[in-house]
Amino acid sequence: MAFFTKPATVSRDAPPTPIVGPLIAMRNIEKVFETPAGRTYVLRRISGEIQPGEFVSIMGPSGAGKSTLLAILGMLDSAWTGEFFFVGHPVHAMSHKQRVALNKEHIGFVFQQYHLIDDLTVAENLDIPLSYRNVKRSEREAIVADTLDKFGMVGKKDLYPRQLSGGQQQLVGVARAVIARPKLILADEPTGNLHSSQGREIMELFKKLNSEGTTIIQVTHSEENAKFGHRIIELKDGWITGSEGPVG
Ligand SMILES: Nc1ncnc2c1ncn2[C@@H]1O[C@H](COP(=O)(O)OP(=O)(O)OP(=O)(O)O)[C@@H](O)[C@H]1O
Ligand SMILES: [Mg+2]
Repeated sequence: MAFFTKPATVSRDAPPTPIVGPLIAMRNIEKVFETPAGRTYVLRRISGEIQPGEFVSIMGPSGAGKSTLLAILGMLDSAWTGEFFFVGHPVHAMSHKQRVALNKEHIGFVFQQYHLIDDLTVAENLDIPLSYRNVKRSEREAIVADTLDKFGMVGKKDLYPRQLSGGQQQLVGVARAVIARPKLILADEPTGNLHSSQGREIMELFKKLNSEGTTIIQVTHSEENAKFGHRIIELKDGWITGSEGPVG
């Protein structure tokens, strides 16, 4: 697979707005679940910043809160306390509708459990993020065709997710997250179900998108994948227990 060797065909009429300040600023984010057994704290006093253009890996044991944190950063969860600014916008003070709009415009999310839409084909799943953008149908079709080609999935375009293997569903999930060239890619174990060479290609794709300006935050259990990023944030039992790397 050779990803994005041609210039992206997404229309870019307006030049991208330069970002001043952090892309993400978190202040004392906490998340609690009320269970029959009592209160479970899943995230504790999470604070920090992520600058535009960073490539950050989040690591930590199972249950540490990694997916929970990523869902908050992706504006998919609103049941938490603290402050979260996205490009200076106070997400903690936004309505559901405003969060959804911000998410659709700027964020591509790769889910741990893929979350493809069951009754849409591969090609239709890939079209969804483009449909949120101001892109003409003919152009969208061209971008979907190009992406299917780059991910080696042309032969699968009319199949439904249940007709794909786990690894193939994961590839569609990654393709869907990157297809509209979002400002931020959030990826939850994006290569967990892939063959090692496919996994490496996804990491190379992320590295390339990052070198072109996309900010990337990935959750990974793999030391090898983590090395593609600039720094590592370590989570354990909901706390940030360590941060390695040049920034932050
Ligand atoms: N709906 C819920 N009710 C109660 N506890 C929950 C709920 N959802 C998640 N949790 C708890 O939150 C904690 C963090 O879960 P999370 O999915 O963020 O972990 P993770 O770090 O992504 O782990 P993994 O590496 O296994 O994916 C876990 O202990 C989990 O049991
Ligand atoms: Mg997880």
